[in-house]
Amino acid sequence: MKLLECLPAAQPLHAAGIVFISALLVTLYRGLSHPVAKVPGPWYTVWTEAVFKYHSIKGQGPAWVQSLHNRYGPIVRIAPDKVFVADPAGVRQIHRVKGEYPKSSWYTKAFPFPETIFSTTSIAVHRRYRKLLSAPMSETSLKAMLPQIDSKVRLAVQRIGEEMYTRGAADVSKWWMCMATDVIGELSFGESFRMLEYGEYIRDLESLGRLAALSGVFPILNVVAPFVPVPQISNAFIANRRLTTYAIQSLQRHQDLVEKDTADAKPTLFSKIYKARDDESLTMDEIIANARSYLAAGSDTTAATLTYLIWSVCRDPNIKRQLVQELKTLSDDFTDGDLKGLPYLNQVIEEALRLWSAAPSGLPRVVPEGGATFGKHWLPSGVVVLTQAYSLHRNAHAFPQPETFDPSRWEKPTMAMKDCFMPFGGGSRVCIGLHLAYIELRLATARFFRTFPDATVSSIEGSDEDMKQDLYFVMSPRGHRCLIQAS
Ligand code: HEM
Repeated sequence: MKLLECLPAAQPLHAAGIVFISALLVTLYRGLSHPVAKVPGPWYTVWTEAVFKYHSIKGQGPAWVQSLHNRYGPIVRIAPDKVFVADPAGVRQIHRVKGEYPKSSWYTKAFPFPETIFSTTSIAVHRRYRKLLSAPMSETSLKAMLPQIDSKVRLAVQRIGEEMYTRGAADVSKWWMCMATDVIGELSFGESFRMLEYGEYIRDLESLGRLAALSGVFPILNVVAPFVPVPQISNAFIANRRLTTYAIQSLQRHQDLVEKDTADAKPTLFSKIYKARDDESLTMDEIIANARSYLAAGSDTTAATLTYLIWSVCRDPNIKRQLVQELKTLSDDFTDGDLKGLPYLNQVIEEALRLWSAAPSGLPRVVPEGGATFGKHWLPSGVVVLTQAYSLHRNAHAFPQPETFDPSRWEKPTMAMKDCFMPFGGGSRVCIGLHLAYIELRLATARFFRTFPDATVSSIEGSDEDMKQDLYFVMSPRGHRCLIQAS
């Protein structure tokens, strides 16, 4: 009797077991028979991306991927549909101008609507944005903005000096962040955030940066942020709204000034676009969205590069001596044009962009129709291929002793070095702000070391622990500070 009572319950259990085992077998088979399974990589990545996500959320994704490249070679699987490529030929194939591999849907999830020049995955939309936005970002056009940029650089160096005087050491990380944000704020919105004047990095931008780092790993956060009972996340959502209001108000104010042709209307990266109002031009909503993307893309990146540059030079008396000697050859009224002609300064900048890549993570792209071959591996269309500056810049063939900060390696760059150097991305999606970034890097480095030729890492506050890197989409020092002193 007891046995019979058990039977009806045992049957569904039995059926559930069969369904579970069948599903498991199908999953195992699908994973193993997919072409990506033949790419070298840890066994579990045939079925899951969880380990990559785990390292990414800890801010160590690029370092983990690099450890896989060291073990498995230049082409490595990190998820059932994702492959990292670190060999220069493969990287060239992905980041080309014609026949490009589109950005993956990760961009629109991590940086949700409205789409911008940075986030759009559509080749046609991107071409239109790029065509309209490139001219003001060219080296020639940026010359008109040099006085605005240089005044922010001078103010940053002045504020650093004041902090050294009062506190004994200055947090250059904070001041470069204020400077880079004020520069891109003024050039995009017509007025800066005045962070250099107030001496504080505004909280809204800080919390947005944090949300961006997390939503890069879990894009769903962008949708659920307002409902998440974690103040840092829900506050970031509110900050996002406030920034949008700020962007709309300041751009409209600036547009009015430009249209009235008043003397107060400083040139911005968008002023010619307001004037050119025709069918092809950008709408006000598109200008607002893209100006906001400039703010996100053009502040932390430049600031992190400058922070690590100053720190690396201050730690090495020989490098500092050479740089300071070269800077002494300048006249007091030097210009950015003079800085372009200084070999060592430019080597220092290239080396900082290499070793301390501000955008170190994988740049995801989709294999187009027809599939593609990388090394001896064929990947079908739809697979996501990623390249990361963190690995390219540590290619030991191109850069012997890659972990050493050695500007002199740029004296005569080899073809291998040029092939592996990608701090600003590549192909049609190469950084539109790279000329602006170089101007800021040259002016700030030169003004800093001319003012503080004996600057050293602070002996009273802070430590090298602060400078361990958090490797999110944009890299930053883990301690969120970098203390430098000078007499
Ligand atoms: C040292 C400073 C900088 C670094 C290292 C850097 C790095 C990069 C990288 C790696 C990309 C490609 C991203 C991808 O493919 O997903 C990129 C794109 C971009 N960057 Fe920068 N960037 C810097 C400064 C700037 C500045 C100052 C701006 C100011 C506007 C800017 C605006 C942009 C924009 C709008 C894009 C998207 C371009 C497109 O898709 O056409 N960046 N940047």
